[in-house]
Amino acid sequence: MAKVLYITAHPLNETQSFSLAAGKAFIDTYKEVNPNDEVVHIDLYKESIPQIDADVLSGWGKLRSGQAFEELSSEEQAKVGRLSELCEQFIAADKYVFVTPLWNFSFPPVMKAYLDSVAVAGKTFKYTEQGPVGLLTDKKALHIQARGGIYSEGPATELEMGHRYLDVMMKFFGVPSFEGLFVEGHNAMPDKAQEIKENAIARAKDLAQTF
Ligand SMILES: Cc1cc2nc3c(=O)[nH]c(=O)nc-3n(C[C@H](O)[C@H](O)[C@H](O)COP(=O)(O)O)c2cc1C
Repeated sequence: MAKVLYITAHPLNETQSFSLAAGKAFIDTYKEVNPNDEVVHIDLYKESIPQIDADVLSGWGKLRSGQAFEELSSEEQAKVGRLSELCEQFIAADKYVFVTPLWNFSFPPVMKAYLDSVAVAGKTFKYTEQGPVGLLTDKKALHIQARGGIYSEGPATELEMGHRYLDVMMKFFGVPSFEGLFVEGHNAMPDKAQEIKENAIARAKDLAQTF
């Protein structure tokens, strides 16, 4: 039985969002194919995802200097504790499905905050004399991303930084398998929008058979 985290970073729902529509097609099919797996939905717009702020930095600093967790202020405890909970949940999962829209060439800021919560030395990667080494070597990940223009080929390829950032982080964590499923070009070609969406949903269902 695998544990799957279905991590969505979108404020709307699947009738309004192409990425969530493809994400839902994927995860519903995945659940049908793998009825015994545990799928946990983390809706980053509904969950509390602390940003790394002054409380977090001072709380981490106190822990590093040997103070006990109970000695942190209540704000530090709440934020540092929540970040640690998110990181432990990430490590305990086997598979990750990220769903994001492309906004200004990247993903919504809450996704960066989430990735900050799981990028922890000694947990998801470690420092060695040869440099950092990823510790999540038995996981697999998928990123479903809708983007109004075309980025998988052509002149805009270099501008896309959301999928590329996730790719960098998955490699950094040692995750050996990371794929992308893109719904793209529907704003640039509005007459083809419905067809683009339906194709993406069909690809999502296909991919869910073997993920
Ligand atoms: C705030 C914002 C920024 C956007 N930035 C880009 C962009 O940089 N490149 C692009 O091709 N489309 C951009 N778009 C269009 C979205 O990528 C497109 O509508 C996509 O379908 C969004 O995903 P969704 O359908 O899941 O909401 C932007 C849309 C919004 C609302």
